[in-house]
Amino acid sequence: MAATVIVDALWGDSGKGKVAAWYAGKLDASYVVRAGTGTNAGHSLYLSENELVKTRQLPLSFIHKKAQVRVGSGVVVDPKIFHEELATYHLEKRAKVDFRCAVIEPKFIEMEQHNAHLKETVGSTASGTGQTRAAFILRTALQAQDWPDLAKYTADVAQELNEACSRGEEVIIEGSQGTFLSLALSPDYPFVTSDNVTTAASIDDVGLDWRHLKRVVMVVKALPSRVGAGPMPNEMTETEVHQLGIEEYGTVTGRLRRKGHLDFDLLKYAAMLNGPTEIALTFADHFDPEIIGSPNLTPKVKALIKKVEAACGAPVRLVETGKLYSNLIEIK
Ligand code: IMP
Ligand code: MG
Repeated sequence: MAATVIVDALWGDSGKGKVAAWYAGKLDASYVVRAGTGTNAGHSLYLSENELVKTRQLPLSFIHKKAQVRVGSGVVVDPKIFHEELATYHLEKRAKVDFRCAVIEPKFIEMEQHNAHLKETVGSTASGTGQTRAAFILRTALQAQDWPDLAKYTADVAQELNEACSRGEEVIIEGSQGTFLSLALSPDYPFVTSDNVTTAASIDDVGLDWRHLKRVVMVVKALPSRVGAGPMPNEMTETEVHQLGIEEYGTVTGRLRRKGHLDFDLLKYAAMLNGPTEIALTFADHFDPEIIGSPNLTPKVKALIKKVEAACGAPVRLVETGKLYSNLIEIK
């Protein structure tokens, strides 16, 4: 009984990777594993002002050095990105993908880049993720075990994780994107990604027996953002975003993210789909600049926490107060 899922409540880009890394350290996880769809999501954190750590394929929680680093079988793998991350972060001895993962071949990336519907209407990241998933569904994709460069970095990840949980070890499942980008659970189709990205989808992505799931951390971005097309309640104008000085650009695409204020009905719906046991409130510094770098919560953030807890039916346990990894307040 020892798995923790980190899932995003809205449209992603909420600092899930940073939250997952924090839980990996706190719980001294023996495995950290990436769930989600593929390489469309970028996870990043600043260890210090000049030290940015960034991944698209591997879980960012690899920064917990004692953990084995894995990618679940439901996530598609880009061999090029996998090898770049292995080399950049010296993970050759710690990282493996499930032998069943479908492989993003260069032709799939090209197909997405030339697909007007995906690029212009949906606002896809054109990482080849959706096209690979489509080939997998049609049973024409190759798997990691068939790809020469990947075969030696494969394992039965589902078995490893379930066995680790049975031994009482801690496993961190790092979800990607956000609940309202879920293919079959978002009301916003076609402005969605190529699979569901909820709690249940995440444990399915890695093949975990649900009875091992102990904790679901739902990440709530204090001022949500959305990249690509699709509805966004309480959206700010670009001018407002610039006036507040809270511009953000996509890690994968470099696009300016749309930003808005929380919609508590959406949050309630996200909680219904994900069943959080606790909440991580991120980007509190965008919501209230007074909190930047502070060791204490400000009245404005405390008031927001009350509303978030009421909507989610779970306590806020972690608050992000700035861009550094150390800018996190634990609420006990
Ligand atoms: P795709 O999954 O790259 O095809 O993109 C489909 C939709 O999901 C687009 O609106 C993307 O902007 C969005 N999306 C995909 N990955 C992410 C992510 O990691 N964060 C935020 N939005 C994403
Ligand atoms: Mg899946």
